[in-house]
Amino acid sequence: MKTAWRSDRLVYSFCTRADLPAIAAMLAKTAVCEWLFFGPNPPEVTHAYFEPLIDGMAEAQAGGTAPESYVFTVRTRPSGGTGKGREGAFIGQCALVADDFSEGAYLIGYQTDDAQWGKGYGTEMCRFLVWFAFTMAGAYRLNGDCAAGNIPSVKIMEGCGFVPEGRQRKYWHVRGGYHDRLLYGLLAEDLPAGPAPWQELFS
Ligand SMILES: CC(C)(COP(=O)(O)OP(=O)(O)OC[C@H]1O[C@@H](n2cnc3c(N)ncnc32)[C@H](O)[C@@H]1OP(=O)(O)O)[C@@H](O)C(=O)NCCC(=O)NCCS
Repeated sequence: MKTAWRSDRLVYSFCTRADLPAIAAMLAKTAVCEWLFFGPNPPEVTHAYFEPLIDGMAEAQAGGTAPESYVFTVRTRPSGGTGKGREGAFIGQCALVADDFSEGAYLIGYQTDDAQWGKGYGTEMCRFLVWFAFTMAGAYRLNGDCAAGNIPSVKIMEGCGFVPEGRQRKYWHVRGGYHDRLLYGLLAEDLPAGPAPWQELFS
């Protein structure tokens, strides 16, 4: 079963326990968590969240079935290599987490490490999730959300075609202020007819 996909500069691999230290280090950073509804997390909290998802993917892989949820570790392609290895620089993680009560609906998530911001990686990761969800995972709907102040995330989701679906006012009380939560959705029928968007970017 294929467990890694690549673009011209990144490799998206099914996350394994070996990837967790890098992800935990990223999610322990105040800067990375500024607009997340969780964190900064001590490493054990990150491990406790991701381990069941990772184990679920490994079990599905062993049984030759599709995982319920998908977590990808994102690294640069090794220079001069085929892109199949794991030795590229850590960029971040992105995920499609299955909705509990509606098969084929997934919550999207993506984080890039702070040293990597502003290089277009977040945009590419969201494009990857859209492509993967509708071509590989059989999604009919993607759910997205973010704090209203998370301008890069707003730009990313809207740039990827997500449709604004609502605003929960003062959803988040933190750091002495109140922040609205923006809700987004992307349905299979929102996509243009023909090949899934960004198909040409990933293989
Ligand atoms: C949000 C996040 C994924 C963006 O990643 P990134 O790799 O910097 O994203 P990109 O380089 O693709 O930039 C996306 C857009 O935001 C813009 N942008 C990036 N940083 C910005 C900033 N600090 N202020 C304003 N705009 C910014 C970019 O110019 C780009 O805009 P464009 O589409 O008009 O060109 C990254 O900042 C991150 O992981 N943050 C912490 C976790 C998080 O918030 N995740 C999303 C949860 S909803």
